[in-house]
Amino acid sequence: MSKLQNELQTEVDKRRTFAIISHPDAGKTTLTEKLLLFGGAIRLAGSVKARKASKHATSDWMEIEKQRGISVTSSVMQFDYQGHRINILDTPGHQDFSEDTYRTLTAADSAVMLIDVAKGVEAQTIKLFQVCAKRGIPIFTFVNKLDREGRSPFDLMEEIEQVLGIRSVPMNWPIGSGRDLCGVYDRMKNQVELFQNDDHSTIAVKKVEDYNDPIIRDMAGEYLHDQLCQDLELLDVAGDPFDLEKVLKGELTPVFFGSAVNNFGVQTFLENFLQLAPKPEPRSSTQGMIEPTNEKFTGYVFKIQANMNPAHRDRLAFLRIVSGKFERGMSVKHIRAGKEIKLSQPQQFLAQDRDIVEEAYPGDIIGLFDPGIFRIGDSLSQGGEIVFNELPTFSPELFAKVTVKNALKHKQYQKGVDQLTEEGTIQVFKTISFEDMILGVVGQLQFEVFEYRMKAEYGVEVQLQRMPYQFARWIVDDKIDPSKFRINSTLVKDKKENYVVLFENEYAMRTAMDKNPTAQFLETAP
Ligand code: G4P
Repeated sequence: MSKLQNELQTEVDKRRTFAIISHPDAGKTTLTEKLLLFGGAIRLAGSVKARKASKHATSDWMEIEKQRGISVTSSVMQFDYQGHRINILDTPGHQDFSEDTYRTLTAADSAVMLIDVAKGVEAQTIKLFQVCAKRGIPIFTFVNKLDREGRSPFDLMEEIEQVLGIRSVPMNWPIGSGRDLCGVYDRMKNQVELFQNDDHSTIAVKKVEDYNDPIIRDMAGEYLHDQLCQDLELLDVAGDPFDLEKVLKGELTPVFFGSAVNNFGVQTFLENFLQLAPKPEPRSSTQGMIEPTNEKFTGYVFKIQANMNPAHRDRLAFLRIVSGKFERGMSVKHIRAGKEIKLSQPQQFLAQDRDIVEEAYPGDIIGLFDPGIFRIGDSLSQGGEIVFNELPTFSPELFAKVTVKNALKHKQYQKGVDQLTEEGTIQVFKTISFEDMILGVVGQLQFEVFEYRMKAEYGVEVQLQRMPYQFARWIVDDKIDPSKFRINSTLVKDKKENYVVLFENEYAMRTAMDKNPTAQFLETAP
């Protein structure tokens, strides 16, 4: 092994790159903060609290962008803990939800699914889970807010299986819950972590023989101990055993119970996660799988972020490093453009002072200054034509008709639309008859970004009129008859002239499918 390969191996072994997926309010901000506290956070995308402030009002978003001159809708946080280097990819929720959120997941090697003990599996969690499940990445579950009254753990496990289709294995188990929360029993280490309600900051760990140990009875009382024994006996007999192979294939999710705000169960979660989660994984390309320890630097752009600050009218392209070592100033080939480019001012994260990164390794994310040369999915490589597989596109769920306020601006308008679709900000469709332009997005924020950027960058004021459609399906059929898609639906074309039907509701979609048995209805472009 060469010296560089040794270095790469050491750095790759240390790294874990993951995203937290959850529904708003489950406690992602809180959990992230606690995780960062365990490691001295070395690279933070602004402060987590500051970003949190942005989630309450949509209109704040642009103000915040402007004031801070940075992106609040995307970020990467990096910290060290017990010899590991951890990259957390933020997946914005609330109004910040967009197709970027999904794409960000393609840069993660695993995901942490955060669930509110009272609310269980919620809508946004389902969507994000499905994207992760398609890639088959490992998913670790943290059931949060154990200090509150919530649903029974069995009930939650059942829901995870029913709704998400993944089996689960509890790594620890609550002793009591809500006001009676006494602690959790660690099934792997046979120990009890005590939750001390009178002083939330102190957490004691007691080693025990097994869950029948009378020490637990002394601590938790007879009733809670009996309950614990019953539950765990049932799990031992009827539950899935822990199986790392299945976890790594995304077929089994290890479940941890805790309370982020009380910092209860977070540290053991982190330590277990670091043990079990995969290190940076290879990625598939035209040259086969590219291993992280491959000496040649390679990476791909998974997201492009426009800067809203007029003083910095630049863009940042987010690159996931797949292999090799990144060094500031290095030259790499931009494969699609067929050009050598110099990576001179990369940022490892977005923060006010825009730190410049000197070196980085597989699993890390760097922000590249983008004067307009990158597109989502672009591959960069040092020597050799390595092209990574195309990033997936996602089925839009919100639609709006666009009109230009000033017809004379048509040329700029077209240019803006082309550029913004290429960047992946929005998807566009045209109606068959009048060639009306319809935008399709997965999150409301994308409409706002479109409107704002059309005005700021192309000088075009647009008007968006929301349409009642909820689903888009690309149709593949020998003969397409537009008259068949008139009731609660409409036939349009995408940029590549593929036929797409927009449906107002699931019923209309199912009916169309039943009536056109020979056609294929695809969620994304073929
Ligand atoms: P998000 O990023 O997923 O949207 O959630 P966030 O961390 O902002 O948490 C949402 C709310 O849940 C916050 O309360 C937070 O304090 C609370 N929370 C997080 N973890 C726990 C927990 O383990 N137990 C309990 N009981 N609450 C928890 P908030 O009132 O909306 O905000 P704040 O004013 O407390 O910050």
